[in-house]
Amino acid sequence: MKKIDVCLSPELIHLFDLKGKVVVIVDILRATSCMTTGIAHGVKAIRPFADRDACIKMREQGYFIAGERNGIKVEGFDLGNSPFDYMAENVKNQKVAVTTTNGTVAIEKSAEAAEIIIGSFLNISAVADYLKKQDKDALIFCAGWKGKVNMEDSLFAGALVKRLKGEFVNECDAPLFAHTAFEYSEAQLLDVIKGSSHAKRLNNLNIHEDIEFCMKMDEYDVVPVIRDGEICLSA
Ligand code: MLT
Repeated sequence: MKKIDVCLSPELIHLFDLKGKVVVIVDILRATSCMTTGIAHGVKAIRPFADRDACIKMREQGYFIAGERNGIKVEGFDLGNSPFDYMAENVKNQKVAVTTTNGTVAIEKSAEAAEIIIGSFLNISAVADYLKKQDKDALIFCAGWKGKVNMEDSLFAGALVKRLKGEFVNECDAPLFAHTAFEYSEAQLLDVIKGSSHAKRLNNLNIHEDIEFCMKMDEYDVVPVIRDGEICLSA
């Protein structure tokens, strides 16, 4: 049977062999929720960068520039890192270069994977169905916060492991831990996430609606994948 594993923090990724695996990048608040929303709303492609200056340089090639640091939109950027920014008419059929504090770092650390896909609560069932159709083991890679484990990504991992039960076996305890934590939180998931450190950080920045939106289940039936360094719609 195929195997599923969970990397709870980028600081642990060196312990995992990504070769031959499908890696699901997750950064619920808010990077992968934005990427999913953008692709669902017709953004042509999203090119992720860990490095801010490399991202800015893409303006020369006609890309919109998007992103944040510590939750705050980078000065001079066209878009911040709110899913609502990715719903705008002017980014439809356009290319966007993005850099974020954690999400784009996790993507860059996944280069050895056979395939990289983008996961969020917004497309969780589509991601589960996609993984079931692949003949590969999978790794759920939580972006966390500056190397530390966070609540929202870990609970997403648990929710996805739950949906894969019976088709994937756990490779170690991290999937079991995440699944168990999700089972205890599922009934009051939004309230649990509202208590997380990054949700508090966003609220302190007067960013409220993004949290509720990023916690919507199955808003979109899309699976964004990375092809030639760009996030686009899976064929
Ligand atoms: C990140 O990459 O850390 C997040 O997306 C941060 C945010 O959007 O607030």
